[in-house]
Amino acid sequence: MAEEFLVAQDLYKSFNEHKAVNGVSFTIYKGEIFGLLGPNGAGKTTTIRMLTTVLEPDRGHVTVGGHSIRDNADAVRSLIGVCPQELALYEDLSAIDNMVFFGRMVGLDGREARAQAMAHLELMGLVERAMGKVGKFSGGMKRRINLAIALMGHPELLFLDEPTVGIDPQSRNNIYETIEGLRDRGMTILYTTHYMEEADRLCDRIAIIDGGQIIAMDTPYQLKSRIGPLEQVTLEDVFLKLTGRRLRD
Ligand SMILES: Nc1ncnc2c1ncn2[C@@H]1O[C@H](COP(=O)(O)OP(=O)(O)O)[C@@H](O)[C@H]1O
Ligand SMILES: [Mg+2]
Repeated sequence: MAEEFLVAQDLYKSFNEHKAVNGVSFTIYKGEIFGLLGPNGAGKTTTIRMLTTVLEPDRGHVTVGGHSIRDNADAVRSLIGVCPQELALYEDLSAIDNMVFFGRMVGLDGREARAQAMAHLELMGLVERAMGKVGKFSGGMKRRINLAIALMGHPELLFLDEPTVGIDPQSRNNIYETIEGLRDRGMTILYTTHYMEEADRLCDRIAIIDGGQIIAMDTPYQLKSRIGPLEQVTLEDVFLKLTGRRLRD
């Protein structure tokens, strides 16, 4: 039986009158890639911000590794790594200095931060650019650095919020391969995307989210086979069938 690693129960968050997250519950098991797939505005980032202790839920309960985000946020933070949708980088610093800085933020000493930074740059195919200023990097390279930073401190659960939006195919493939490599090494991942091909390729299980609510949750295989013959059905068809709308409206 797989071990429950993150349990989210009945989460709600409104901004003014707008219900951004409207009763969301799911469990992520250790070692899986769990996808939140939904269109822009569905509530993916708001959900992630609550799970990662950045934003307080209006209602609901979350545990990560058995620790409550409300009562034991520090313990939760020590288990997680976050790659935010908006890039969080110092453009005037080199790649390595950015990574060492964020490594120090998660409590690594200087030597360990440098060692991890180099290992993660290697993983992302950016060792040659270690000394380069991040401000001069392409969008795809910045995304890869953003992901490499999330790995500092070797988190057990990684949150990736739309990590491939607006980047070149080479960077996208590098990110896919990195994620698959991390999964092979036992990392647990929450992945959000509005690209169904990505969710289909990478995720062990997917929750389809729309209007702040989860409308279906299963393996990509099971979601598709509910609709029709697997060779012909895509997750886009699943979304269309459930909502009457296309994913990328
Ligand atoms: N800080 C905020 N203030 C007001 N509205 C917000 C805020 N953050 C998100 N929203 C709104 O909540 C809804 C869900 O947003 P978000 O979680 O960012 O969706 P997604 O990440 O799926 O695109 C959207 O309608 C968005 O405009
Ligand atoms: Mg978002």
